Amino acid sequence: MLSHRDMQEAERRGRQVRSIYVYEAPVRLWHWVNAAAVTTLAVTGYFIGKPLPTMPGEAAENFLLGYIRFAHFAAAYIFAIGLLGRIYWAFVGNKHARQIFMLPILNKAWWSEVFFEVRWYMFLEKHPKKYVGHNPMAQLMMFFFFTVLAVGMVFTGFALYSEGAGVGTWSDQLFGWVLPLLGGSLQTHNLHRLGMWIMMSFAVVHIYAAIREDIMSRQSLISTMISGWRMFKD
Ligand code: HEM
Ligand code: HEM
Repeated sequence: MLSHRDMQEAERRGRQVRSIYVYEAPVRLWHWVNAAAVTTLAVTGYFIGKPLPTMPGEAAENFLLGYIRFAHFAAAYIFAIGLLGRIYWAFVGNKHARQIFMLPILNKAWWSEVFFEVRWYMFLEKHPKKYVGHNPMAQLMMFFFFTVLAVGMVFTGFALYSEGAGVGTWSDQLFGWVLPLLGGSLQTHNLHRLGMWIMMSFAVVHIYAAIREDIMSRQSLISTMISGWRMFKD
């Protein structure tokens, strides 16, 4: 069954809608580059906070943690610049490109679809609703557990980075104030690390939901993030 919003869109395009172009190329490209960057950041970040206990040979001949930090910072630049690019695309792209930045919290129909999706994910509803863009619950989760969190990771990350870059550098001038605000360097490390675990929890649920919906919801999900087209089955 199509939701009200999607019915309107379907009607506008003729009732026999089989596929709709949803995610434009920049959104798709960003999604996969971002997923790779987040994975790199989580793995390298994990080892920055809990370094491997021993290394063989002379200390001067080892630079393992240095390389791990380098990979973290390289992925961090890709993550942060990608996020800026994605924000830009929210302004110039189609309406689906704005979904992860804006929640229609005053729209009652949207909330009822959020709760419908909660029941559907709990196997309490028998017939899936179809959506052109993100389903309302996915949108809600993406907003808090990706968009808001990602901004937090950039602020805390570059604040920590400014400690190494030094007083007066651009990262210090732009983000240095975050450290005292959060209660110092150690506390910023803790929050940045907690953010990693929250984002990893999101990723696990997100990938589960993408595969589950691809199988169960009578519409394409993963191929939509590759080709841009959402295909609907009867
Ligand atoms: C999703 C994004 C990110 C994740 C999952 C992540 C994860 C982590 C983790 C788990 C740590 C170790 C914290 C600890 O236990 O002390 C860390 C450290 C750090 N991260 Fe990130 N990070 C992300 C984004 C960024 C960004 C955008 C920057 C910006 C440059 C950044 C810069 C740093 C710095 C400077 C450190 C401390 C390095 C050190 O003390 O040697 N991170 N990160
Ligand atoms: C194998 C891994 C992954 C798969 C198969 C996957 C799949 C998908 C799919 C199918 C969508 C579109 C869902 C829809 O149409 O409602 C999507 C969107 C999204 N995914 Fe993933 N994803 C993966 C990894 C990740 C990771 C690691 C992150 C970040 C933590 C992430 C963040 C997002 C975000 C923020 C969106 C919304 C995109 C937008 O509207 O700009 N994904 N993903």
